[in-house]
Amino acid sequence: MAFSLSSFCWGAASAPVQETPHIIPLPAALQVKTGEPGFSLKEGVKLPEGHPLSTRAERIFRDNGIKTSLAKSGADVLFTEDSALGREGYRIAVTPDSISIASGGPNGALYALQSLMQSIVTDGNGAPALPRMDVKDQPRFAWRGLMMDSCRHMMPVRDIKKILDLMERYKFNTLHWHLTDDQGWRLPIAKYPRLTAAGAIRAQSPVIGNRNKPDGTPYSGHYTADEIREVVQYAKDRGITVIPEVELPGHASAAITAYPELGNTDIPGFAPKVQETWGVHPYTFSPTEKTFRFLEDVIDEVCLLFPDSPYIHIGGDEAPKDQWKQSPAAQQVMKDNGLANENELQSYFIRRVEKMINKHGKRLIGWDEIQEGGLSPTATMMVWRSWMPNSSRHALAQGNDVVMTPNSHLYFDYDQGPGKPSAPEYETINNDNMTWQRVYSLEPIPQGTPKEQEKQVLGCQANVWTEYIPNLPKWEYHVFPRALALAEVAWTPRELKNEKDFKKRLDRELPFLDARRVNYKRPDNGAPAQPDAVITRERR
Ligand code: ACM
Repeated sequence: MAFSLSSFCWGAASAPVQETPHIIPLPAALQVKTGEPGFSLKEGVKLPEGHPLSTRAERIFRDNGIKTSLAKSGADVLFTEDSALGREGYRIAVTPDSISIASGGPNGALYALQSLMQSIVTDGNGAPALPRMDVKDQPRFAWRGLMMDSCRHMMPVRDIKKILDLMERYKFNTLHWHLTDDQGWRLPIAKYPRLTAAGAIRAQSPVIGNRNKPDGTPYSGHYTADEIREVVQYAKDRGITVIPEVELPGHASAAITAYPELGNTDIPGFAPKVQETWGVHPYTFSPTEKTFRFLEDVIDEVCLLFPDSPYIHIGGDEAPKDQWKQSPAAQQVMKDNGLANENELQSYFIRRVEKMINKHGKRLIGWDEIQEGGLSPTATMMVWRSWMPNSSRHALAQGNDVVMTPNSHLYFDYDQGPGKPSAPEYETINNDNMTWQRVYSLEPIPQGTPKEQEKQVLGCQANVWTEYIPNLPKWEYHVFPRALALAEVAWTPRELKNEKDFKKRLDRELPFLDARRVNYKRPDNGAPAQPDAVITRERR
């Protein structure tokens, strides 16, 4: 009798559950009923056959060690749509019989599933279970990003996929991919094959652990178009948009080495090379029609490679004006267009490029230097220079959107306090003390922002420049657990943030990072979680 009855029931009640979930980022509203039976995961979960979200759910449950099966009727997981929850919001109700997920869009369902994964606890019988609970959640900010610099050092697609998996878990939705710079062009452009054939190779790099000494060893590599598409699709399946960055007008040594006619060839001593040292280099694109034709071709191809990205990032930072000052051709462009100085020439340059981007229905985003000669009213600005607090204020007052990536809190290449090994491989770009606590303390809305401008702050992002980050284990050491602190800054309502509570949840999340062999920095003593990880410049 009991046997036949249970076959009519959904799911199975667990033994009473005492443990609470440890969700990072903390949801906007979470109610847990401890001491009661929850939903038992001992026998796995039945997903609704044929539902478009079941494929994603299958992957996510299985990645977390929970068996799944598909059921034509009587599934344990019920998906419903509720557009009132917004594009990324969701609701969960877990009872002993069922797991109900309501979402306004596919990302919401994905985030519901990720919240469930961080709610898997052990019931009174030692079996995996979900506590009885209700969640209603949506992100505080729409842009929750990480920037990956593949120019100074690049990682194989396999490693990027691991990063995307981790980003999905913590509800990041943007990977900003820095693909062109002085030290290497890694972006395949069919019309200009020398960009990767020549622009991707630097003759040598600084020695790891001794930045003033060259290592005498060439470093090269680029992604193929198929690899780019693979990354974009893998990210999309995880709710992540990949935003490509093509740097201009500065940080252009690699492109100019491949096609010297794109540079300021009329200046004394013009001799471009793919740069072998870090830092800012003087090579800028010449502001002439040849260059604009080239950039239009590049942007056309980039838009095809990244069809879902609403933005193209054009860099715009750290473009020294020395070459334009010396170049008669650049000076002539200034005269012809009535431009008063080289900053205005940079803005003229960027506005030309913005038109090329807009033609594809996409928007331009650039680092905060793009406002120095006048900010285009339709550009989005990525604010990084914390020492210039007025830059975001001005852009917001003008009506522009901004994304906050302040180097005071979100430069994950910076040192992160005591505990790192003394081995030369663990050198950092500087001796900052950018602890996870400092990251957690960030309030992304700049101080003094008028209420009506707050919505122009799209969100925040950490930048992971890779001069001193040659491979994945070092990348992980820099990014985790700081990325978890950032995830909460970007997602959780400001009034619910609590560093002590976050630390407790972080400690409970570490076994997951251990199981995935993430070489995070241990929050207690700063040591690497994977002390045997090999930090090397070789690409495997
Ligand atoms: C930057 O760090 N130059 C954006």
